[in-house]
Amino acid sequence: MPQNSTHIDIFDTTLRDGEQVPGSQLTTIEKIEIAKALEGLGVNIIEAGFPISSPGDFFSVQEVSKAVTAPTICALSRAIEKDIDVAVDSLRFAKRKRIHTGIGASDIHIQHKFKSTREKILQRGVAAVAYAKKYVEDVEFYTEDAGRADLEYLAKMVEAVIKAGATVVNIPDTTGFCTPETYGAKIRYLKENVSNIHKAKISAHCHNDLGLATSNTLSAIVNGAEQIEVTINGIGERAGNTSLEEVVMILKKHPDLNYTSDIDPKKIYPLSQKVCKLMRMPIQPNKAIVGQNAFAHSSGIHQDGVLKNALNYEIIAPEEIGLEKNSIVLTARSGRSALKDRLLKLGYRTETREELDKIYQRFLEVADKRKIVEDDDLIDLVSNINPSKNLFHLKDMNIKSGLHSLPESSITLSYKDSTCKGTAQGNGPIDATIKAIKKVIKHDIILEEFTVQAFKGGSNDTGKVEMQLLYEDTRYYGRAFNTDIVVAAAMAYINGVNKIAIQLQLT
Ligand code: KIV
Ligand code: ZN
Repeated sequence: MPQNSTHIDIFDTTLRDGEQVPGSQLTTIEKIEIAKALEGLGVNIIEAGFPISSPGDFFSVQEVSKAVTAPTICALSRAIEKDIDVAVDSLRFAKRKRIHTGIGASDIHIQHKFKSTREKILQRGVAAVAYAKKYVEDVEFYTEDAGRADLEYLAKMVEAVIKAGATVVNIPDTTGFCTPETYGAKIRYLKENVSNIHKAKISAHCHNDLGLATSNTLSAIVNGAEQIEVTINGIGERAGNTSLEEVVMILKKHPDLNYTSDIDPKKIYPLSQKVCKLMRMPIQPNKAIVGQNAFAHSSGIHQDGVLKNALNYEIIAPEEIGLEKNSIVLTARSGRSALKDRLLKLGYRTETREELDKIYQRFLEVADKRKIVEDDDLIDLVSNINPSKNLFHLKDMNIKSGLHSLPESSITLSYKDSTCKGTAQGNGPIDATIKAIKKVIKHDIILEEFTVQAFKGGSNDTGKVEMQLLYEDTRYYGRAFNTDIVVAAAMAYINGVNKIAIQLQLT
């Protein structure tokens, strides 16, 4: 850890502000699953919900409090005694608990939302903190719409609530209005002008309406905020909240800034995927850190550069955030070096420049038809160009099948320099054929799914068979065409087996 670095508390509000997104509501079980993952990630505080808002929210805060012990569990309330009572009740099983209460601080909110005065609102805020403090030591106060609040009044409010016992003062840019300069200046002003500020931590809570949430949060940190309020994938109402992963990785990639957090970056990607799935909130492909394209290099020049040294175009290695994935996406813009590298990873060593050129030309034809050339397509492509790369070849097959006899299949495969035969019975000719092939290849490659498709529909049509095979927890695909669908099935299975043999270097 860098010397004299400042620790930044990570307050995650995915389950509260994040969950306010329409259509993203979670069940209590799902909230517990995310809360446990947040605990594993290393967040310091989990805002688990707004208990007065519904019995479901109350129950979720209560159950998260039981399930998660390392982070502080926080419950939101308005500056209303009944809200605070319910929040306190929902937290009764929490090992570490925090009440997050507050009220609007901008004149817009004071006049149009509360139809009140600055003085009365300040008194309500102070009373709420004093009330919450009777039950819970850790009380955070939010000054809603602080981003548009008058600075002197905001400072007065912050001072008064700290005097009443607030341990954290949250300065939300509720509407995402501020710029990094104005938001940072606000935090600095509070740091320098609130006499008792040393008794509380300042928390930054930014919304992304102008796309500035991450920059504003960073600006708050460098101006004295010691807690940041964030969500996974930046989810939240309207344009969302500050993304946890963005700020955490900024701090990690800039050690010169001298801030640390307890987040384990390797847990970021799996949790991002979990939140995306459970909350039914797709991640935009070019989203920083966790988007599907964040580590995908598609232009030939970049791919070549990354293969020479990832540092050329990557400031974060995918593994740093727990993403075990090939970052090179093969498209029509990829060059020979990317293709050669992938072929090598798939078990094909191209011996000569001519051989690579031949594969590359064929690759470009496939890439023109499909946007992305998958590994599976590549293996097909290479084995079509050079069938000798395949381990097994179907030499012959005979099928006995009828209304009153058990289907039986005999197959002959060539394997290296020899010929092997296998015969088996099955509940249909295809089942018998696959069993006969399995007898020869001696590896238990499971046929999980297969489809047969006719091209035009007549009885003289060609059948296209596609198969999904499972071997040692990995899925592979085989496909083939033939006017005889049983033969096509045998060829598709062997096609899949050859891919497995090549990739795993089976003999
Ligand atoms: O954006 C906001 O002001 C909030 C508060 C309730 C903390 O989410
Ligand atoms: Zn918010």
